[in-house]
Amino acid sequence: MALTNNKHVLDWVDEMIALTKPDQVVWIDGSEEQLDDLRRQAEETKEMIKLNQEKLPGCYLHRTAVNDVARVEHRTFICSRKEENAGPTNNWMDPKEAYDKLGKLFDGSMKGRTAYIIPYSMGPIGSPFSKAGVEITDSIYVVLNMAIMTRMGKEVFTALGDSNDFVRGLHSKAQLDEENRYICHFPEDNTIWSINSGYGGNVLLGKKCFALRIASYQGKQEGWMAEHMLILGLENPQGEVKYIAAAFPSACGKTNLAMLIPPEVYKKQGYKVWCVGDDIAWLRIGPDGRLWAVNPENGFFGVAPGTNEKSNPNALASTRQGTIFTNVVHNLDDNTVWWEGLDKNPPKNALNWKGEKWDPASGEKGAHPNSRFTAPAKNCPCISPKFDSSEGVPISAIVFGGRRAKTAPLVYQSRDWENGVFVGSIMASETTAAATGAVGVVRRDPMAMLPFCGYHMGDYWAHWIEMGKKLGDKAPKIFNVNWFRTDDEGHFIWPGFGDNMRVLDWIIKRCEGKADADETPIGFVPKAEDINLEGLDFSVEQLKDILSVDKELWKAETQGIEEFYGKFGDRLPQELRNQLNTLKAKLN
Ligand code: GDP
Ligand code: PGA
Ligand code: MN
Ligand code: MN
Repeated sequence: MALTNNKHVLDWVDEMIALTKPDQVVWIDGSEEQLDDLRRQAEETKEMIKLNQEKLPGCYLHRTAVNDVARVEHRTFICSRKEENAGPTNNWMDPKEAYDKLGKLFDGSMKGRTAYIIPYSMGPIGSPFSKAGVEITDSIYVVLNMAIMTRMGKEVFTALGDSNDFVRGLHSKAQLDEENRYICHFPEDNTIWSINSGYGGNVLLGKKCFALRIASYQGKQEGWMAEHMLILGLENPQGEVKYIAAAFPSACGKTNLAMLIPPEVYKKQGYKVWCVGDDIAWLRIGPDGRLWAVNPENGFFGVAPGTNEKSNPNALASTRQGTIFTNVVHNLDDNTVWWEGLDKNPPKNALNWKGEKWDPASGEKGAHPNSRFTAPAKNCPCISPKFDSSEGVPISAIVFGGRRAKTAPLVYQSRDWENGVFVGSIMASETTAAATGAVGVVRRDPMAMLPFCGYHMGDYWAHWIEMGKKLGDKAPKIFNVNWFRTDDEGHFIWPGFGDNMRVLDWIIKRCEGKADADETPIGFVPKAEDINLEGLDFSVEQLKDILSVDKELWKAETQGIEEFYGKFGDRLPQELRNQLNTLKAKLN
């Protein structure tokens, strides 16, 4: 039975049901009984494996198809009415053509299956800054993941009332046919159509599709920003909390930084890190004129490999109950899960991510490099008391970062907001397993939004500059970090993880005007003595090495930037053109 009288919802659902022709329609009310029933069904059909309920209560394992393990950027489209509005960094399809092409694929795609109608809210239900979505899907896995990742259930319809302001998401696994896999966004229609995939990033439509691609477009229209950013609160020994938002590309350390546990020297003084969000931030200017951030999600869709008791104990703790694991190793001895980097004892009697008998001695990886956990935010031991707050948290610093073996120093600060926008716009990072395609190739990924900006990237930069003008002297300070500089043998030089606290410490001190810096052509870098190395086996020479700015490398970098900027023609803001010229002049 329909859970709403909202005519816009009902008309659209009718239309989509007529198109996809499911055998049954089930409205998701968000109740535990209904979810339990779905879990039971998924277990029966082997879509999900119930794990050891003593060790991992409420946890399940799921395997995707082997050719369906990551986001598919080459099959992701922004279907704006005008091609030029999608911009040079997005794939574009004419919306008429897209509705027509995908309409044929969706026609009867749910025959023999059930359609689930999921009402969900990005952000706390009913908050003035939250936005509603409805996803129709034929996948129980999607329903159960959305139950963790969003605030889901009939209360969303109550909050929506008669309004037409909700994002319409349609998803069908269809045949899981790779050739016909499409993730299409229609920003002008508040609509997302995703077909032939079952991988989280392509099918949990509240996340990348809505909260980043559609929301970035909405933010441009409405004067706010949707960003690929973690949000953390850093509490000092006096109990004051300062908030930082940081944008790193997928699989470059957001979840780890968001849940950081400070090293002993900081812990014993009383420093603490609070996690507000690990992937997405919606940013608005508050009544006080400062920039405020809300995490629109309700859970973590985190990278499993590398997560362990040492690197990220808070993430690991978050996965100990009510979690769905995707594409990890199944330990058959005790019906638990394992992945590379969890510990040094891979299970001997186990199945790999494909469900095949796996021998750890074979040298083959057991878990997929992009295997994931979907964990409720409330499980996280360091979840911020402000997590559910509808006004969010005020941001003191914005941090950009990526994976760069060379070139980018451990940390530097931009000269001002406009220079900071430039720093974000020239970000480059090595590709990771989070998207299909080659891994380890350096590419430009402005603000870590390359795969997620729902409109023209030049207009997006103009929006950033505009926001800075509105914020004036209340604007957060902008920094860039790189945890991934390598030595001649390719090893990471900086210890990273908890020790990144030492860099956050400098960042906050800079915001408070309490730390000095050296000016370089790219911005301000710390004086080596201002990074606290106490309790760390790391020499000042090593630190100086990773803080160094190599002019020759940066000159080469400016050529790459020039080339990249060339794509944007007259939609490249003049301010950024000027910034590039200034950088070139400073390097000469
Ligand atoms: P996210 O996808 O941006 O949230 O990134 P994650 O926090 O999940 O980390 C992705 C990968 O980078 C994992 O394999 C982590 O172990 C690794 N990683 C995260 N932080 C650091 C760091 O500070 N140093 C190094 N060397 N690796 C890191
Ligand atoms: P990530 O999230 O940024 O934590 O990797 C998923 C993604 O971006 O695909
Ligand atoms: Mn992400
Ligand atoms: Mn993450």
